[in-house]
Amino acid sequence: MSGPTSIESVLSESRVFPVFPNLERDARIAGMAAYEELCQKAEQDYPGYWADLARDRLVWTKPFTQVLDDSKPPFYKWFHDGELNVSANCLDKHLGTPTEHKTALIFEADGGEVTKVTFRELYEQVCQFANGLKALGYKTGERALIYMPMSVQAIVAMQACARLGITHSVVFGGFSAKSLHERAVDVGATLVITADEQRRGGRAIPLKNAVDEALSAGDCQAVRHVIVYKRTGGPVAWHEGRDLWWEEVVKGQSADCPAVSVNAEHPLFVLYTSGSTGKPKGVQHSSAGYLLGAILSVQWTFDAKDSDVFWCTADIGWVTGHTFITYGPLAAGLTQVVFEGVPTYPDAGRFWNMIERHGVTVFYTAPTAIRSLTKAAEADEAIHPKQYNLDTLRIIGSVGEPINPEAWMWYFKNVGRERCPIVDTWWQTETGGHVITPLPGATPLKPGSCGLPFPGMDVAIVDEVGEEAERGNGGFLVIRKPWPNMIRTIWGDPDRFVKSYFPPELKGYYLAGDGAQRDTDGYFWVMGRIDDVLNVSGHRLGTMEVESALVAHPLVAEAAVVGKPDPTTGEAIVAFVVLNGDLPAGAEADKIAAELRNWVGKEIGPIAKPREIRFGENLPKTRSGKIMRRLLRFVANNEPITQDVSTLENPAILDQLSEAH
Ligand code: WT7
Repeated sequence: MSGPTSIESVLSESRVFPVFPNLERDARIAGMAAYEELCQKAEQDYPGYWADLARDRLVWTKPFTQVLDDSKPPFYKWFHDGELNVSANCLDKHLGTPTEHKTALIFEADGGEVTKVTFRELYEQVCQFANGLKALGYKTGERALIYMPMSVQAIVAMQACARLGITHSVVFGGFSAKSLHERAVDVGATLVITADEQRRGGRAIPLKNAVDEALSAGDCQAVRHVIVYKRTGGPVAWHEGRDLWWEEVVKGQSADCPAVSVNAEHPLFVLYTSGSTGKPKGVQHSSAGYLLGAILSVQWTFDAKDSDVFWCTADIGWVTGHTFITYGPLAAGLTQVVFEGVPTYPDAGRFWNMIERHGVTVFYTAPTAIRSLTKAAEADEAIHPKQYNLDTLRIIGSVGEPINPEAWMWYFKNVGRERCPIVDTWWQTETGGHVITPLPGATPLKPGSCGLPFPGMDVAIVDEVGEEAERGNGGFLVIRKPWPNMIRTIWGDPDRFVKSYFPPELKGYYLAGDGAQRDTDGYFWVMGRIDDVLNVSGHRLGTMEVESALVAHPLVAEAAVVGKPDPTTGEAIVAFVVLNGDLPAGAEADKIAAELRNWVGKEIGPIAKPREIRFGENLPKTRSGKIMRRLLRFVANNEPITQDVSTLENPAILDQLSEAH
C-alpha cells in the first residue's frame, strides 16, 4: 500500500524530537511532570478537575453546583444547573481590561485588502446585529442557518446568535443548494444569514442564489427572513418581505445588547457531518462545556500567550473554524488572522506571505494544504517558504487527517525551521476540542504520531469487547469517560446518537470511528476511519452519501463508492457505477462520467465529486446481494485481489471493473 497513511511508513518511523527548552520554560504546561500532574489530578477527582477549570476559565451568570450528571448515559450533562452566555465570555469579558482595545481580528480578503477589528469594535458589531435580530422578532431557542464566506460578518453572525441563545448551524459555502435545503429542514431553521457572493481565488461564487433554490421547496416555510451581507455587489434575486440587507438590519441599532443568560447545556450550535448512512448527522454541542474545551484547546495545545498572533486556516463551515476562529481565540483574548481566500491565490506562497506580513506566531492548517504547497514549492522556487521571513512563528499545527512523516518533516524544516514544534491534533466534530495532541512545552514529538491524550481525556485503544489493546496492537479508538465538550446528541435523532457512538459491546465508551494503536511510549498513531466514512482533503464524506447522490441521477442504476489513497488529498473518491442501459465505452463513457461528476457536485458540493468513475455491468455482490466494497478497494488501487472471492455471486465482474478506466 502506498499513500500518506501507509502503516509501513508510520511504523518504521523512529525519530523523536525533544521539547525545545525555550518553549518549555515559558509554557502554560511546562514539562512532562506538569502534564502528568494534570492527568493525575483528573484521574483522582474527575469532576473536581473539570469543575475547577470551568470555574476558572468561564464567566458564569449563575454559578453551577452540579458538575457531571451521568444519570442517563450516554446523554451526559455538564455544569447543568449553571448559566452563562458564550458571546459574553468571548467579548464582554474583555471590556474594561487591556484586551478591550487590542486587535481581535485581522481580516484579509481574497484580493489582499486588510481590515482590523478590535475586541471593542467586534463587541459593538455583534450587539448591533443581535439587536437587529431581536427587532425582527428572533428569540432564544430558534435556529439560524449561516451560509457565508469567511468574513468579519460571519463571525459577527455566529456571535450574535450565541448572544441571544439562537442555535446556529453553519453550512460550508462549498455545499450545494440541495445540502443547504436538507440542513435547513432538519434543523428547523427560522432564519438564514448569507451573502450575495463569496470570493475565492479571484472569482466570485454566488451564495444567495443557492439559498433561494434551497428555500424554494415547500418545506422551508418556517424561514421568516434571509439576511444578506453584500460582499461583492453581484446580482441577486430578491424576495420582498423575506430578504433583508445586512445594513438594513443593523441600521440605527444600539451598540449594546444584553447577553441572554442560558443554561450550560443550551445548544450553542448544530454542525452537520457525514456518517455511515446517506444522511448527514447534526452534531449538537452545548454552551458551557463546549466553550471550556475550546478555551483549553487554544491555551494548552497552542500554549497561547497574550502577545500571540493566531492563525487557523480552516473555514467556519467546519468545526475547526468554530473552535479555533469564532470561539476559542476570542474567549482567550487573542489577536487572530481570518482569511477569506485560498492558499494558491495569487500564488502558492500566499500563506507564507501572510505569516510574514501579519507576524503570525501560531499557525494551524491541514496536511492536505501542506502536501499541495510542498508540491508547489518544489515546482517553483519563488514561492518556496524559504523565500519568506517566518521568524515570528512559535508553534505550528496540523489537523484533519493523519499527517504522513514525509509531510511532517517538510513542514517542520521549511515552515517551522526546526525550531517550532508541530502539534498534530486529533479530534472530531463530535469532540468539540482536542483529544490527543502533543503539548509544545511538554511532549517530545514523533513525526506521524498525534502524541498523548489532552490533559483530562481518558482515551484508549480497545478490542471488540472494549478491553484495552496491548501496546503496539491496533484497535478502536475510544474515549472512556464523558468529557465537557462532547457531542450531546444528534439533532432530532437521539437513537442514531446512541447507535452511532455507543455500541453496547464497548462498555458504554464513546467510539470515535478511527482505527489506531499506541506504541510502548503511550503515543497514539491514528490509521484512519474504520467505518464507511472517507477523508478527502481533511473533509469527511460518507460513501453512502455519494452513492445516494449518484443513484439519484436518472441514468444510474447502482453505485458503490470507495476511497483510494492519494498523495495530496489523503483519500480520493472512486465510484463504480452501473447504468440503466448498455455499458458505455470510449468518448461516451467519458461524457457520462463528466456528467455524473458534475451531478454529484450539485447534489452535495464540489468536494464530493468522484476523482474516478468506472462503469460495469454489475457490482461484486455476495449471494445475499451485499456489495463487497472491500474487494472494490483492491480494484480501485489496481492491486491484485488477495482475498477470498468464493462468496461472490459474480466473480467475473471484478475483471471487468479492473479493466474499465
Ligand atoms: C476525523 C474527524 C477535527 C477537525 C477536523 C476534522 C480525522 C482529524 C486527525 C489527526 C489523524 C485525524 C479522523 C477523525 N482526523 N484529525 N490529527 N490525525 N486523523 O473533523 O470532519 O469531524 O473529522 O478526521 O479520522 O475521525 P471531522
